[in-house]
Amino acid sequence: MPIIAPSLLSANFLQLEEECKMLNHSQADWFHLDVMDGRFVPNISFGPMIVEFIRKTTTKVCDVHLMIEQPENFAEQFKNAGADILTVHYEACTHLNRNIQQIKNLGMQAGVAINPHTSVHLLEDILPYIDLVCLMSVNPGFGGQKFIPQSIEKIKQLRKMCNDKGLHTHIEVDGGVNFENAAQIIQAGADVLVAGNTVFKVENPVQAIAQLKSI
Ligand code: DX5
Ligand code: ZN
Repeated sequence: MPIIAPSLLSANFLQLEEECKMLNHSQADWFHLDVMDGRFVPNISFGPMIVEFIRKTTTKVCDVHLMIEQPENFAEQFKNAGADILTVHYEACTHLNRNIQQIKNLGMQAGVAINPHTSVHLLEDILPYIDLVCLMSVNPGFGGQKFIPQSIEKIKQLRKMCNDKGLHTHIEVDGGVNFENAAQIIQAGADVLVAGNTVFKVENPVQAIAQLKSI
């Protein structure tokens, strides 16, 4: 069964505590928290303070997706805020190996995210050091965008790379995941589904999560 990671970016922030409680009572596995700096991506979301508040509401895994430049300046703050997994962008890190070492040394799991235009083959040398690849299936910055179909091929390629190396790295797909494409995404080799609008912009989020979980 896939790991379901609802993205709080699509939640109602006026009722953030209620939204977190709802996730706690659902089959959601992880809380996916999207941090944006207005530089790496054309949007600003929230930072460590909000992550810290969310952390207090749940014992589920806090999966923090940093869409920021110079993530090394904030890794410790996100650790202190309670992040379990910290994901940085390949495109934002000149010294990616150093960023990953820093995250691991701080005691978190480390992830690397790649934009839709970035080849999975560029991850060849970092793959043995990381716990998760976040494969962006939209251009990062906003929830509610359309899934880029070419992502399916990338998932297959990445799963093959992991298999060939005997690695059990999580493959997380982020952006435009819905009931129509989720099965294909899992079949291609992903094991973590991020879902923003598909979970939060529907009548019954708990049921939507259950439906994704049963795919
Ligand atoms: C996009 C974020 C995603 C986004 C997913 O930059 O990284 O996590 O919130 O939202 P949906 O599922 O609505 O595309
Ligand atoms: Zn994300």
